[in-house]
Amino acid sequence: MIKSVGIVGAGTMGNGIAQVAARAGFDVVLYDISTEVLKDAMARIKEDFRRGVEKGKITATEATEAFSAIHPRRNFGDMGNADFIIEAVAEDLNVKKEIFKKLDAIVAPEAILTSNTSSLSISAIASLTKTPESVVGMHFFNPPALMKLVEVVRGRQTSDETTKTACDLALRMKKIPVVCKDTPGFIVNRVARPFYGEALRLLAEGVATVEEIDMIVKMEGGFKMGPFELMDLIGIDVNYAVTKSVYEQFFHEPRFRPHPIQRQMVEAGTLGRKTKKGFYTYK
Ligand SMILES: NC(=O)c1ccc[n+]([C@@H]2O[C@H](COP(=O)([O-])OP(=O)(O)OC[C@H]3O[C@@H](n4cnc5c(N)ncnc54)[C@H](O)[C@@H]3O)[C@@H](O)[C@H]2O)c1
Repeated sequence: MIKSVGIVGAGTMGNGIAQVAARAGFDVVLYDISTEVLKDAMARIKEDFRRGVEKGKITATEATEAFSAIHPRRNFGDMGNADFIIEAVAEDLNVKKEIFKKLDAIVAPEAILTSNTSSLSISAIASLTKTPESVVGMHFFNPPALMKLVEVVRGRQTSDETTKTACDLALRMKKIPVVCKDTPGFIVNRVARPFYGEALRLLAEGVATVEEIDMIVKMEGGFKMGPFELMDLIGIDVNYAVTKSVYEQFFHEPRFRPHPIQRQMVEAGTLGRKTKKGFYTYK
């Protein structure tokens, strides 16, 4: 029976997943290497709960209980007592492998280890542990509190039991789990590559502006957000890393090639909403 959830990484996804886990009644340990990020994450969580109460989505008592169930930590060893780990750090296979190696050394043998990776191989991440059958992908979407879907990604060695536990946990968090195979970008991020890629090519060719492309996609395509608004929300760095990862894992198939605009924006540090500047400017 899972009681405590450990979350590695308190950035955009980590702090959102922490809220959802706490609302589902789990005790949450939220770890990040950065004190600053942890402080911001707790402030953000507090504010999100406050707005939830204001909108009548949760009661003040539920918000207080959920908030007090989240424990920010800077000591990696504190993840050792969690029954279920969700890793949400940078989309970089080497960074994730290092974390799973360290997790493997501290968690109980029956703990389930999951990664919120958007595109990387769960089988490769699992290979660093003694229990690859207990490693599974759990791909939440942004923002985790609102988005219903969770892709549950089965690595080569993931067991049926682990897959079921991850699906059950997603259901307890009021999410809709969809089990899929371990393939670069899984389902959603594979389908989404041309959505961003073609929009960037249209922009680079001067066919239309950022605002025009976003407007047309929303108006005629029925999308809630245009590709540029969505890249700003996701983070240009994260989106670029995912595109690069899918491209590389498919042996440089041209249809998945990233666009130089993305690289240039990452190099310039204009990463979207999180830096208040991306394709749009934010206050
Ligand atoms: N942003 C999105 O829209 C989105 C959606 C779904 C999945 N994801 C995936 O979730 C993961 C995290 O993305 P994000 O957008 O939250 O990134 P982010 O940059 O907002 O947060 C990543 C966090 O990881 C921390 N970190 C980095 N190295 C660490 C380490 N070694 N130990 C502990 N913490 C470390 C950083 O301090 C940062 O706070 C990525 O794999 C990404 O692909 C992102």
